[in-house]
Amino acid sequence: MLPVDVDTLIKEAEEAKKHAIAPYSGFTVGAALVTDGGRIYRGCNIENPSLMLSFCAERSALIKALTEGERDFKAMGIVSGDGRYCFPCGGCRQMLAEFAPDIEIYLVSDKGIKKYSVQELLPYTFKR
Ligand code: THU
Repeated sequence: MLPVDVDTLIKEAEEAKKHAIAPYSGFTVGAALVTDGGRIYRGCNIENPSLMLSFCAERSALIKALTEGERDFKAMGIVSGDGRYCFPCGGCRQMLAEFAPDIEIYLVSDKGIKKYSVQELLPYTFKR
């Protein structure tokens, strides 16, 4: 059972998306990560002219939470500006597998909501 309902999580991701800085790709992304205790951390993509220095929405939310000492997570909602499902990139999947391996991931498009586990998105995860 999630500490917040999925609609709330998605609304939070939509709010997060409003702060995206994506002048180079024009592709905005918002993420909302909820902790076991029900606290929500928002993230958005932040691009940089040196494109490799850009941050994804998912990692922004995760890093915000981790730097506040949070360690236990329940779910993440992800929305993008183009109305299609935004699957987390490989780097974000790896980070989620490391720090939030048991979360439910909710992706949103015009067609509705899809739910995935981290294991589904990143099978055969690299671990040390
Ligand atoms: N992006 C995310 O924020 N999350 C994803 O899951 C995929 C891609 C961002 C990175 C970049 O700012 C823009 O979307 C286009 O790739």
